[in-house]
Amino acid sequence: MPDQPSDYPLPSEADVDSARRGFMQTALITVGATQLPLQAAQAAATPPPAAVPARPLTLNINGKDHPLSLEPHVTLLDALRESAGLTGTKKGCDRGQCGACTVLVDGRRINACLTLAIMHQGAKITTIEGIAQGDQLAPIQAAFMEHDAFQCGYCTPGQICSALACIDEIRAGTASAVTPNVREQAIAFTDPEIRERMSGNLCRCGAYNNIVAAIRTTAKA
Ligand code: FES
Ligand code: FES
Repeated sequence: MPDQPSDYPLPSEADVDSARRGFMQTALITVGATQLPLQAAQAAATPPPAAVPARPLTLNINGKDHPLSLEPHVTLLDALRESAGLTGTKKGCDRGQCGACTVLVDGRRINACLTLAIMHQGAKITTIEGIAQGDQLAPIQAAFMEHDAFQCGYCTPGQICSALACIDEIRAGTASAVTPNVREQAIAFTDPEIRERMSGNLCRCGAYNNIVAAIRTTAKA
Protein backbone atom coordinates (compact mmCIF):
# COMPACT_ATOMS: atom_id res chain seq x y z
CA MET A 1 0.00 0.00 0.00
CA PRO A 2 1.48 3.41 -0.94
CA ASP A 3 2.16 5.58 2.13
CA GLN A 4 3.33 8.78 0.35
CA PRO A 5 1.07 10.89 -1.95
CA SER A 6 3.83 10.70 -4.54
CA ASP A 7 3.47 6.89 -4.53
CA TYR A 8 -0.05 7.12 -6.07
CA PRO A 9 -0.08 6.91 -9.88
CA LEU A 10 -1.03 10.31 -11.38
CA PRO A 11 -3.94 10.30 -13.92
CA SER A 12 -2.97 11.17 -17.46
CA GLU A 13 -4.06 14.50 -19.01
CA ALA A 14 -6.49 12.61 -21.28
CA ASP A 15 -8.13 10.99 -18.23
CA VAL A 16 -8.55 14.39 -16.56
CA ASP A 17 -10.06 15.89 -19.74
CA SER A 18 -12.46 13.06 -20.19
CA ALA A 19 -13.58 13.21 -16.52
CA ARG A 20 -14.10 17.00 -16.77
CA ARG A 21 -16.20 16.65 -19.94
CA GLY A 22 -18.32 13.96 -18.32
CA PHE A 23 -18.93 16.10 -15.25
CA MET A 24 -19.92 19.16 -17.33
CA GLN A 25 -22.32 17.12 -19.48
CA THR A 26 -24.02 15.65 -16.44
CA ALA A 27 -24.26 19.07 -14.76
CA LEU A 28 -25.75 20.74 -17.83
CA ILE A 29 -28.30 18.02 -18.36
CA THR A 30 -29.34 18.20 -14.70
CA VAL A 31 -29.65 22.01 -14.67
CA GLY A 32 -31.49 22.00 -17.99
CA ALA A 33 -33.94 19.38 -16.83
CA THR A 34 -34.78 21.20 -13.60
CA GLN A 35 -34.44 24.91 -14.46
CA LEU A 36 -35.60 25.38 -18.02
CA PRO A 37 -39.21 24.19 -17.60
CA LEU A 38 -39.45 26.32 -14.45
CA GLN A 39 -38.18 29.43 -16.25
CA ALA A 40 -40.47 28.82 -19.20
CA ALA A 41 -43.45 28.49 -16.86
CA GLN A 42 -42.52 31.70 -15.02
CA ALA A 43 -42.11 33.60 -18.29
CA ALA A 44 -45.50 32.41 -19.49
CA ALA A 45 -47.17 33.41 -16.20
CA THR A 46 -45.66 36.96 -16.07
CA PRO A 47 -47.59 39.42 -18.23
CA PRO A 48 -45.51 42.02 -20.08
CA PRO A 49 -45.42 45.39 -18.28
CA ALA A 50 -48.25 47.63 -19.43
CA ALA A 51 -47.19 50.77 -21.25
CA VAL A 52 -47.86 53.87 -19.14
CA PRO A 53 -49.52 56.48 -21.34
CA ALA A 54 -48.05 59.93 -21.73
CA ARG A 55 -50.05 62.67 -20.07
CA PRO A 56 -50.20 66.40 -20.65
CA LEU A 57 -48.35 68.67 -18.28
CA THR A 58 -46.94 72.17 -18.34
CA LEU A 59 -43.48 73.09 -17.13
CA ASN A 60 -42.51 76.69 -16.53
CA ILE A 61 -38.94 76.92 -17.80
CA ASN A 62 -37.02 80.19 -17.83
CA GLY A 63 -40.23 82.15 -17.34
CA LYS A 64 -42.09 80.51 -20.21
CA ASP A 65 -44.78 77.81 -20.05
CA HIS A 66 -43.97 74.67 -22.06
CA PRO A 67 -46.99 72.41 -22.64
CA LEU A 68 -45.58 68.88 -22.94
CA SER A 69 -46.83 65.31 -23.15
CA LEU A 70 -44.72 63.03 -20.96
CA GLU A 71 -44.83 59.57 -19.44
CA PRO A 72 -44.71 59.78 -15.63
CA HIS A 73 -41.27 58.14 -15.42
CA VAL A 74 -39.53 60.77 -17.58
CA THR A 75 -36.83 62.64 -15.67
CA LEU A 76 -36.69 66.41 -15.64
CA LEU A 77 -33.37 66.17 -17.49
CA ASP A 78 -34.85 64.18 -20.37
CA ALA A 79 -37.91 66.43 -20.46
CA LEU A 80 -35.71 69.52 -20.75
CA ARG A 81 -33.41 68.10 -23.40
CA GLU A 82 -35.68 65.88 -25.47
CA SER A 83 -39.15 67.41 -25.11
CA ALA A 84 -38.56 71.10 -24.42
CA GLY A 85 -35.53 71.23 -26.75
CA LEU A 86 -33.32 72.90 -24.14
CA THR A 87 -30.08 71.01 -24.59
CA GLY A 88 -27.93 73.43 -22.58
CA THR A 89 -28.43 71.23 -19.52
CA LYS A 90 -26.01 68.33 -19.93
CA LYS A 91 -26.29 64.64 -19.19
CA GLY A 92 -23.09 63.28 -17.67
CA CYS A 93 -23.66 60.25 -15.48
CA ASP A 94 -27.51 60.22 -15.39
CA ARG A 95 -27.29 59.00 -11.79
CA GLY A 96 -26.62 61.99 -9.54
CA GLN A 97 -22.85 61.74 -9.39
CA CYS A 98 -21.45 64.50 -11.63
CA GLY A 99 -23.69 67.58 -11.34
CA ALA A 100 -23.63 68.28 -15.11
CA CYS A 101 -27.44 68.35 -15.11
CA THR A 102 -27.80 70.92 -12.30
CA VAL A 103 -30.73 73.32 -12.76
CA LEU A 104 -32.55 75.67 -10.40
CA VAL A 105 -36.07 74.85 -9.26
CA ASP A 106 -37.67 77.70 -7.33
CA GLY A 107 -34.15 79.04 -6.74
CA ARG A 108 -32.73 75.80 -5.33
CA ARG A 109 -30.26 73.66 -7.24
CA ILE A 110 -31.15 70.08 -8.03
CA ASN A 111 -29.82 67.30 -10.22
CA ALA A 112 -32.35 67.12 -13.04
CA CYS A 113 -31.44 63.48 -13.70
CA LEU A 114 -32.64 62.46 -10.24
CA THR A 115 -36.10 63.97 -10.32
CA LEU A 116 -39.22 63.36 -12.38
CA ALA A 117 -40.55 66.09 -14.62
CA ILE A 118 -44.10 65.47 -13.46
CA MET A 119 -43.14 66.55 -9.92
CA HIS A 120 -42.32 70.09 -11.04
CA GLN A 121 -45.54 71.38 -12.51
CA GLY A 122 -46.14 74.85 -11.11
CA ALA A 123 -42.47 75.36 -10.15
CA LYS A 124 -40.13 77.90 -11.70
CA ILE A 125 -37.37 76.00 -13.45
CA THR A 126 -34.24 77.87 -14.53
CA THR A 127 -31.72 76.33 -16.89
CA ILE A 128 -28.51 77.75 -18.33
CA GLU A 129 -30.55 79.19 -21.22
CA GLY A 130 -32.38 81.41 -18.73
CA ILE A 131 -29.39 82.89 -16.88
CA ALA A 132 -28.40 85.69 -19.29
CA GLN A 133 -30.57 88.76 -19.79
CA GLY A 134 -31.01 88.71 -23.54
CA ASP A 135 -27.60 89.24 -25.11
CA GLN A 136 -26.18 90.46 -21.80
CA LEU A 137 -24.22 87.80 -19.92
CA ALA A 138 -25.09 87.40 -16.27
CA PRO A 139 -22.24 88.40 -13.90
CA ILE A 140 -21.47 84.75 -13.12
CA GLN A 141 -21.17 83.94 -16.82
CA ALA A 142 -18.90 86.94 -17.40
CA ALA A 143 -16.76 85.87 -14.44
CA PHE A 144 -16.41 82.35 -15.87
CA MET A 145 -15.18 83.91 -19.12
CA GLU A 146 -12.84 86.31 -17.32
CA HIS A 147 -11.28 83.58 -15.17
CA ASP A 148 -11.11 80.95 -17.91
CA ALA A 149 -13.20 78.69 -15.69
CA PHE A 150 -13.73 75.93 -18.26
CA GLN A 151 -11.95 73.97 -20.93
CA CYS A 152 -14.31 71.62 -22.81
CA GLY A 153 -17.31 73.37 -21.25
CA TYR A 154 -19.39 70.23 -20.76
CA CYS A 155 -19.76 70.73 -17.01
CA THR A 156 -20.14 74.52 -17.28
CA PRO A 157 -23.96 74.86 -17.48
CA GLY A 158 -24.27 72.81 -14.29
CA GLN A 159 -21.37 74.67 -12.65
CA ILE A 160 -22.98 78.05 -13.36
CA CYS A 161 -26.44 77.05 -12.08
CA SER A 162 -24.83 75.52 -9.01
CA ALA A 163 -22.65 78.61 -8.46
CA LEU A 164 -25.70 80.88 -8.41
CA ALA A 165 -27.34 78.78 -5.72
CA CYS A 166 -24.01 78.51 -3.84
CA ILE A 167 -23.75 82.31 -3.66
CA ASP A 168 -27.38 82.64 -2.53
CA GLU A 169 -26.86 79.99 0.16
CA ILE A 170 -23.78 81.75 1.58
CA ARG A 171 -25.54 85.13 1.51
CA ALA A 172 -28.53 83.61 3.30
CA GLY A 173 -26.23 82.34 6.08
CA THR A 174 -26.87 78.64 5.41
CA ALA A 175 -24.03 76.76 7.09
CA SER A 176 -22.06 74.04 5.33
CA ALA A 177 -19.86 71.22 6.65
CA VAL A 178 -16.83 73.55 6.69
CA THR A 179 -18.43 76.68 8.19
CA PRO A 180 -16.18 77.50 11.17
CA ASN A 181 -18.97 78.83 13.38
CA VAL A 182 -22.48 77.71 12.50
CA ARG A 183 -23.99 80.20 14.99
CA GLU A 184 -22.73 83.16 13.01
CA GLN A 185 -25.16 84.63 10.51
CA ALA A 186 -22.54 86.09 8.19
CA ILE A 187 -20.59 83.43 6.33
CA ALA A 188 -17.40 84.46 4.55
CA PHE A 189 -16.88 83.63 0.88
CA THR A 190 -13.71 81.66 1.58
CA ASP A 191 -12.27 79.18 -0.89
CA PRO A 192 -12.95 76.17 1.39
CA GLU A 193 -16.57 77.34 1.75
CA ILE A 194 -17.00 77.64 -2.03
CA ARG A 195 -15.20 74.35 -2.73
CA GLU A 196 -17.32 72.45 -0.22
CA ARG A 197 -20.56 73.82 -1.64
CA MET A 198 -19.50 73.13 -5.23
CA SER A 199 -18.26 69.62 -4.48
CA GLY A 200 -21.28 68.06 -6.20
CA ASN A 201 -20.18 69.47 -9.56
CA LEU A 202 -17.31 67.55 -11.11
CA CYS A 203 -15.07 68.95 -13.84
CA ARG A 204 -13.12 66.37 -15.77
CA CYS A 205 -10.91 69.13 -17.20
CA GLY A 206 -9.92 70.13 -13.68
CA ALA A 207 -10.80 73.81 -13.94
CA TYR A 208 -11.59 73.93 -10.23
CA ASN A 209 -9.24 76.76 -9.21
CA ASN A 210 -10.64 79.05 -11.89
CA ILE A 211 -14.24 78.10 -11.09
CA VAL A 212 -13.68 79.04 -7.45
CA ALA A 213 -12.07 82.33 -8.54
CA ALA A 214 -15.06 83.12 -10.79
CA ILE A 215 -17.50 82.49 -7.96
CA ARG A 216 -15.45 84.55 -5.53
CA THR A 217 -15.34 87.47 -7.98
CA THR A 218 -19.10 87.31 -8.60
CA ALA A 219 -19.89 87.14 -4.90
CA LYS A 220 -17.73 90.17 -4.13
CA ALA A 221 -19.05 92.27 -7.01
FE1 FES B 1 -27.18 64.29 -13.35
FE2 FES B 1 -24.63 63.49 -13.58
S1 FES B 1 -26.14 63.76 -15.14
S2 FES B 1 -25.67 64.21 -11.80
FE1 FES C 1 -14.49 70.20 -19.23
FE2 FES C 1 -15.41 70.96 -16.85
S1 FES C 1 -14.64 72.21 -18.43
S2 FES C 1 -15.51 69.01 -17.73
